[in-house]
Amino acid sequence: MSICFVCLGNICRSPTAEGVMRHLVGEARLAERILIDSAGTGDWHIGAPPDDRARHAAGRRGYKLEALRGRQIAPADFERFDLLIAMDDKNVAALRRICPPEQRDKIRLLMEFVPETDSRWSGTREVADPYFGGADGFEQVLDQCEAACRGLIAALRPQLTA
Ligand code: 4NP
Repeated sequence: MSICFVCLGNICRSPTAEGVMRHLVGEARLAERILIDSAGTGDWHIGAPPDDRARHAAGRRGYKLEALRGRQIAPADFERFDLLIAMDDKNVAALRRICPPEQRDKIRLLMEFVPETDSRWSGTREVADPYFGGADGFEQVLDQCEAACRGLIAALRPQLTA
């Protein structure tokens, strides 16, 4: 199973999702079964480490983003990954523009994976871009990634243990 989280810059939201997912997958002892990566639809931050604010907010919750570097999504990623999980509808639209038609079902929104029982996020479709906002935005990204990645692991578990 292989998953790529996708946002615009690959320095705030998708590296946060990658770091949270790696941590939770490790706790669930599934690290050998799931390949995890992230990428941006834009090209501004290729080779750059995650944003300091994202790194520090993640670090305070025990997630390490230091080793990650920005990269841009490429058409070949639709062959490499089973799921391309986008943060917002603009990311989905950008992915669809470069996706081979037969691979479109691989594109999903992260918040689809939050369990319906988690009322905190019911009706929240997107992970909002925190780049131009304050510190709260980065905490909210982490809260959303934690809720959705737990749901994602639960959704994948039947396929991984089969
Ligand atoms: P991300 O946030 O998509 O969550 O990584 C952004 C990072 C950089 C920019 C926009 C959003 N930017 O305009 O450079």
